[in-house]
Amino acid sequence: MNPYKLCAQKIKEGGVVVFTGAGISRESGIPTFRGKEGLWQRYDPSIYATMPQTLFTFLSHPSKITNFIIEFYEILLSAQPSPAHRIISQLEKAGLVKAVITQNIDNLHEDAGNNQVCEIHGNAYEVFCIRCGYIEKRDKDEVKKFIEELKNKPAKRFPLIKFVLDFMGKCRDCYTRLRPNIVFFGEELPPKEIVRAKQLLKECKVFIVVGTSGGVYPAASFPYEAKQSGAFVIEINLSPSFQDIDDVFLEGKASQVFEEIFSFI
Ligand code: OAD
Repeated sequence: MNPYKLCAQKIKEGGVVVFTGAGISRESGIPTFRGKEGLWQRYDPSIYATMPQTLFTFLSHPSKITNFIIEFYEILLSAQPSPAHRIISQLEKAGLVKAVITQNIDNLHEDAGNNQVCEIHGNAYEVFCIRCGYIEKRDKDEVKKFIEELKNKPAKRFPLIKFVLDFMGKCRDCYTRLRPNIVFFGEELPPKEIVRAKQLLKECKVFIVVGTSGGVYPAASFPYEAKQSGAFVIEINLSPSFQDIDDVFLEGKASQVFEEIFSFI
């Protein structure tokens, strides 16, 4: 049988959970992390993705971190959901997709209209309180304004640090300084999101893995857990990351593959 038609049939039975990585946002203009053009080729993750080192660099050489923030957020802010994001949202509205579990922090699943999104690595438009867990969402226009102002700030150490810290603000409940709601390397994943994800892995009938290299744990174990619970595993990627357990591997760009599947639904 045509593999796209087979996947469409499985999806039409419902109980679908979609698990996404950076590959799904590639067609929205956001670079992936690994690979030749990946973000970690240009920015050393031991400096930009580990909290102690990022904080140390921010306090000693703030412009090094603010330049990264400016570049990264300019890309995020100009990104729009891809056809793949939009089709997944339509499938949720049709009652076929139960939820999306994403490693991405770009908010594009929500922008596409998905309501059930489990963000296991956080969200770039949120800040949170490490003391009481309070989360505050920032409006995209507000973030855009902050980035524009940050670009025009002179590279003076203390004013730059103060400007960034003031933007993040303090917890409205316990007055602790807020930090970005992004999971850095070596940090614990948000417990509520993980409990929710684990439940979805147990319940799903079809598990679609899209655009992830499977290089980061515990996320990389999710396809195996879904498979163990009896789910039919579909992988969409340029090359397979979970060949050993895929029931179907569909090679290609996420949007093209989703459009092909959708033509049979
Ligand atoms: P990676 O950069 O590791 O992998 C991206 C995957 O997307 C690769 O498997 C590519 O083959 C695939 N890909 C690229 N373009 C694609 C396209 N147009 N359509 C479909 N697939 C495509 O990104 P992730 O696996 O998401 O963690 O990385 C996982 C985590 O590592 C991230 O969430 C981040 C990073 O460090 C944290 O920030 C904690």
